[in-house]
Amino acid sequence: MKLIQYLVCLVLFGLSSIVLAESDAEFPKGWDSWPVHHSGRILGKETAIPADLPPIVIETMKTYNWVNDGKGSAYNVRLNPAQKAGDYKDGPTGVLELTDIKVLLVTEHLVGEPQYGAYTYEGKDISDAHPSLNPKACTTCHTGYGDACINGVCTK
Ligand code: HEC
Repeated sequence: MKLIQYLVCLVLFGLSSIVLAESDAEFPKGWDSWPVHHSGRILGKETAIPADLPPIVIETMKTYNWVNDGKGSAYNVRLNPAQKAGDYKDGPTGVLELTDIKVLLVTEHLVGEPQYGAYTYEGKDISDAHPSLNPKACTTCHTGYGDACINGVCTK
């Protein structure tokens, strides 16, 4: 390869790592042995969202109603038994397991701060597959509704 082509490749590679989103939380090994705290469902886009739900839940339904070709998905919330609610140590914290599409939304804590990620069950990082899977989207909602979430975690 000519030197100039090589340099162009290097620059493009560098740019792609800046532009493409990446999960901030790591894939939590052993998540499937964590106890299920509770279960729920992301409603499909054809289903009316009950108006009496809390604003954060309405926003969550609107944000994720595209999953599973707009049919929504059942989910389990699993919390790492090594974590204590509200007082999160560094390490994996919890997952929201979208069972119909086999996707995990992942929270971890690092130096006291919540970090987010999105993976397939097999551990493939899919945070760049849709804007709502970008860690920035997670942070905005998980910190933007007052005390609906404590230290980046919405399950009490
Ligand atoms: C528009 C709001 C919203 C966005 C965006 C959002 N979440 Fe959540 N998340 C919630 C709500 C509300 C719950 C609680 C659901 C329940 O209790 O059934 C939740 C629950 C979770 C849980 C279970 C633990 C907890 O905090 O309750 C994880 C893990 C999680 N989200 C990760 C993510 C990740 C990763 C992203 C980004 C890819 C994300 N969330 C984006 C609102 C949001």
